[in-house]
Amino acid sequence: MAMLDIRNLSVRFDTPDGTVTAVNGVSLSLDRGETLGIVGESGSGKSQLAFAVMGLLAKNGRATGSVAFDGREILNAPPAVINPIRAQKIAMVFQDPMTSLNPYMRVSDQMAEVLVHHKGMSKAQALAECVRMLDAVKIPDAAGRVRLFPHEFSGGMRQRVMIAMSLLCRPELLIADEPTTALDVTVQAQIMTLLGDLRRDLGMATILITHDLGVVAGFCERVIVLYGGQIMEQSPTDPLFATPAHPYTRGLLGAIPRVDQEGEELSAIPGSPPNMTRPPKGCPFAPRCAHAGEDCLDHLDPLTEFAPGRFRACNRSLEELA
Ligand SMILES: Nc1ncnc2c1ncn2[C@@H]1O[C@H](COP(=O)(O)OP(=O)(O)O)[C@@H](O)[C@H]1O
Ligand SMILES: [Mg+2]
Repeated sequence: MAMLDIRNLSVRFDTPDGTVTAVNGVSLSLDRGETLGIVGESGSGKSQLAFAVMGLLAKNGRATGSVAFDGREILNAPPAVINPIRAQKIAMVFQDPMTSLNPYMRVSDQMAEVLVHHKGMSKAQALAECVRMLDAVKIPDAAGRVRLFPHEFSGGMRQRVMIAMSLLCRPELLIADEPTTALDVTVQAQIMTLLGDLRRDLGMATILITHDLGVVAGFCERVIVLYGGQIMEQSPTDPLFATPAHPYTRGLLGAIPRVDQEGEELSAIPGSPPNMTRPPKGCPFAPRCAHAGEDCLDHLDPLTEFAPGRFRACNRSLEELA
């Protein structure tokens, strides 16, 4: 049994302009210890997919479908079911650490609170564990700095604090939503290395959400490419990069800077993402796709396995794309 099993998940928001469909019929599963990347441009539904799993959708949002964790339904589950899972089994880190850190509390107090509350530790035990965890995320002089306030750390260090906090209860699954997007390139690389090390040490499964295909390359075993709230392609990472099988994935890959092409123009995908207030009837990518025909505006063939472990949703055959 997969650890996480998402079936036909959709997320819709009620807005004054109508219903926004942020996630549209996504199914995916994740095994213990596995690393999965979810990639797509801004607005493709990545964060809302994660929020739906965590039961953290905004008030105007609703999720349909099914999300099973260890065989137990958690989508729209009552607090008695979802709260313990969110506290102890699934952790999430965000682009902005201040989403989960309280600016008015010393790091020691907010981290210790988690352990006192969820693990029943004494204050002294909890504090020692917090220092150990800050040490594990390589914060220099952890024992001295544990009593600082979040704003007293630099951006990169604050991201480390948030990661330490999210890992306190030794989650089985970590969902990292653009964890390095706000950081400069050198710090980004350090944080990704840290996440990789922690993941291996703790043996946890990880879902890495990013708009940057480059970030998943060294980190994820498997990648899901999301567009307009739908899965366009799903594949083990290496073959996805070697032979991308969807026009959108090819476009994303074209937008990755390459050292051997220094100075050359990045080929960003022309056009802009669909307006999800009126979700397209056919393939959401069709209006931007060089290979689209009339049929693509009308319907999208279902996600189909075309090679072992590789899936694509595209009306054009691979031969037609060649
Ligand atoms: N509370 C909300 N109300 C209405 N629309 C929302 C809300 N939250 C997110 N959306 C919309 O859902 C879509 C997907 O958003 P999101 O999952 O955050 O994208 P991303 O892939 O950048 O993480 C976007 O079109 C966004 O505007
Ligand atoms: Mg997002």
